[in-house]
Amino acid sequence: RQFGKFGPLIGAIDEGTSNVKFLIFAANTSEVLTYHQIPLKRFSPQEGWVEQDALEILNAVLECIEITTDNLRKLDISPEDVVGIGITNQRETTIVWSSITGQPLYSAIVWLDVRTSKIVDDLVKRKGAQCVNAVSQTSGLPLSTYFSSVKLKWLLQNIPAVKDAVAAGECMAGTVDSWLIWNLTGGNRGGIHATDVTNASRTQLMSLKTLQWDKGLLHFFDIPMQILPKIKSSAEIYGYISTGSLLGVPIAGCLGDQQAALVGQGCMRFGQVKCTFGTGCFLLYNTGDSIIHSQNGLLTTVAFKLGPDAPPVYALEGSVAIAGDTLQWLKNGLEILNDVQDSEIEASEVTDEEEGSICLVPAFNGLYAPYWRKDARGIMCGLSGRTSRRHIIRATLEAVCQQTRAVATAMQADCAPLRRLLADGGMAQNSVLMQMQADVLAVPVIRPLMMESTALGAAIVAGRALRVWPASIPNPPADIFLPSISNEEREIRRVRWESALDRCMGWST
Ligand code: G3P
Repeated sequence: RQFGKFGPLIGAIDEGTSNVKFLIFAANTSEVLTYHQIPLKRFSPQEGWVEQDALEILNAVLECIEITTDNLRKLDISPEDVVGIGITNQRETTIVWSSITGQPLYSAIVWLDVRTSKIVDDLVKRKGAQCVNAVSQTSGLPLSTYFSSVKLKWLLQNIPAVKDAVAAGECMAGTVDSWLIWNLTGGNRGGIHATDVTNASRTQLMSLKTLQWDKGLLHFFDIPMQILPKIKSSAEIYGYISTGSLLGVPIAGCLGDQQAALVGQGCMRFGQVKCTFGTGCFLLYNTGDSIIHSQNGLLTTVAFKLGPDAPPVYALEGSVAIAGDTLQWLKNGLEILNDVQDSEIEASEVTDEEEGSICLVPAFNGLYAPYWRKDARGIMCGLSGRTSRRHIIRATLEAVCQQTRAVATAMQADCAPLRRLLADGGMAQNSVLMQMQADVLAVPVIRPLMMESTALGAAIVAGRALRVWPASIPNPPADIFLPSISNEEREIRRVRWESALDRCMGWST
């Protein structure tokens, strides 16, 4: 068929924890032609609980699609040139809904939520270390509040509407990708209940080897298989959009957001590493066809599977729960920052020699990799009469860098040292953070000029499934940040931060 001047276009839904975006890419050049973004609300009805409204997420996606296709028309580009879309999403966040009414049966329980802490403790006590170890071996993940397994267990145990829907055979469960795919392909008028292998690998219910729901894991967590979606590859046609301006367009790709950023950064081969600085901060190391089990607190996960018959590629992941979210806390909680973007200039204005003496550990809901301590809580150390809000802002950036360093050290112990770090995500716009990261890690940090790596990854997998995306992607232009401090200074900062870290453990039972 004939296309307009940009050739075939691919849309990407990027459903993150903080925002929903829909972007249009020109498949031939990877250029973003237009996009729209809507922020998402989060609710915390009790200490440690983090919820979102599944309908708000869906409506934001639908609205972003409509506004973006409208933008296309205004640019004199036909939305008919959009030949497919890809979906990428915050992972682990769990939604249950009725196949009959199409309505969610409870709020989306967000990955950061720690209400399942007691379930985790009980499972360890009841099932014993050997069983818990077997869960990690099969799923690649430690027993933690982070994953969908225990969130789903909590929903099945505590929400009467969910129990009733299971008994009536109308309960559907999944991560955000499944909720969106089902609704976009028709909802209760014949929607497709599917997920991709990368999202499934974060539920803790899938075997890394078979890439199917695992009977042993389902038994361990007591989850009925029939409520779960069908697992597909990351690049194939899932179904067709059943409503709105993109009616009839295929959903041709799906990836969890961190895996999508890995693809978007071009880390397709063994040993390539990226770090996405978003709500949290996630470092992924492509381990090719090897399932490497970490001895140092990292996760093993599926990186991508580029088609139903393609082999899976795996990754080691270091997940840091709180990164950009700390800046939101400085803005909305402490009210010492007008706008998160201002953190760059504010942090750069710390000229005091004592700048590094403040340490902040933002363990708001415990600590993930490589520590896995749900009893940790946030701490600020080293305050003096000279401490200003700028010191706190700078310490917030350093906390992200030090946690990333700890993850990189674990990766070095498990696999190989990092030679460079590809950075992306909203917080990576902050050049002070990028420079600090290069200093703390002692390797160059490379930030592509086009920082929508997550959405690009989703577009690439969809474009590949539809055979409209070029096979090789040239290295994109990038900013490079080189390490600029001495080894001695690096070591002083590490030791100081780790001594603050020690003090944050054991605050919560
Ligand atoms: O595992 C959680 C992760 O997928 C969330 O990503 O970009 O919303 O911080 P982000």
